Amino acid sequence: AVELSLRPRYLAEYIGQSQVKENLKVYIEAAKMRKEALDHVLLYGPPGLGKTTLSTIIANELGVNMRTTSGPAIERPGDLAAILTNLQEGDVLFIDEIHRLHRTVEEVLYPAMEDFALDIMIGKGPSARSVRLDLPPFTLIGATTRAGLLSAPLRDRFGVVSRLEFYKVDELAFIVSRAADILNVSLIGEAAEEIAMRSRGTPRIANRLLKRVRDFAQVRGDGMITYELAKHALELIAVDPMGLDQIDHKMLRAMISNFQGGPVGVDTIAATIGEEGQTIEDVYEPYLMQIGFLQRTPRGRVVTPQAYRHLGLPVPPERRGSE
Ligand code: ADE
Repeated sequence: AVELSLRPRYLAEYIGQSQVKENLKVYIEAAKMRKEALDHVLLYGPPGLGKTTLSTIIANELGVNMRTTSGPAIERPGDLAAILTNLQEGDVLFIDEIHRLHRTVEEVLYPAMEDFALDIMIGKGPSARSVRLDLPPFTLIGATTRAGLLSAPLRDRFGVVSRLEFYKVDELAFIVSRAADILNVSLIGEAAEEIAMRSRGTPRIANRLLKRVRDFAQVRGDGMITYELAKHALELIAVDPMGLDQIDHKMLRAMISNFQGGPVGVDTIAATIGEEGQTIEDVYEPYLMQIGFLQRTPRGRVVTPQAYRHLGLPVPPERRGSE
């Protein structure tokens, strides 16, 4: 319940992603003026940047209900048909991990998105026929960490496609300060900044770190999150000053010691450190690339000189050329 109440409910409370926010504000207002359903929206970007939150906000701003599901949860076309026929006019249907929709389900979605219609097959064999059922106009909001994995026909049916970016440190500091107010805990500005710097541009991580630091403040301190307490707690939690955790370290070190820093394929890295390739691609890589610690090349991933320095390792001569 706490996690939920930390989430902003309206655009005015939502910090960051200003471009996406400003555009959505216009589209929402226009749809409301015309008394139409908002066009379908695709939100993509790394996990934890607020795709679900933004979807809830869109539904709230439109003043409609939101039905939430996910790609892998919809196993059969009939499951989707049941959801679609239960929507009310203008409602938001949020499908998380939409890149994981089954093909057969995706095909039901096309006419639903385009014509608000459901094509149902009746009977089997030569006497089979298709019946078209009208649906209430609705807004599909799809979320994915991997827009590239979406089929072209599905991607083309979204009228609004928005990419969420990593947050800036000052935005994250603002977000944790807001969260601290809601949690009723005293958080010094410098401590908010320190948490923000170690949150990999991600509000979900920032709020999680805030809660763990609050635990230390309660048990080891007097409940106030001072700069010293935050810094000490963050060291115990084992996130480094750039926000890298043990898996980031394990991955970079494995690439350096086993593969001379690369190039090496994601699945090889994954096998070496015992993680899923998908998790590395979706969760770990995007931020390491954003901060310039990892590069993608046609022959695989490469550790950059900045990463060697961050780890306190000498930069090999053959790596210096890439600076
Ligand atoms: N909490 C999590 N993400 C947020 C955001 N973008 N704005 C405000 N509070 C948040």
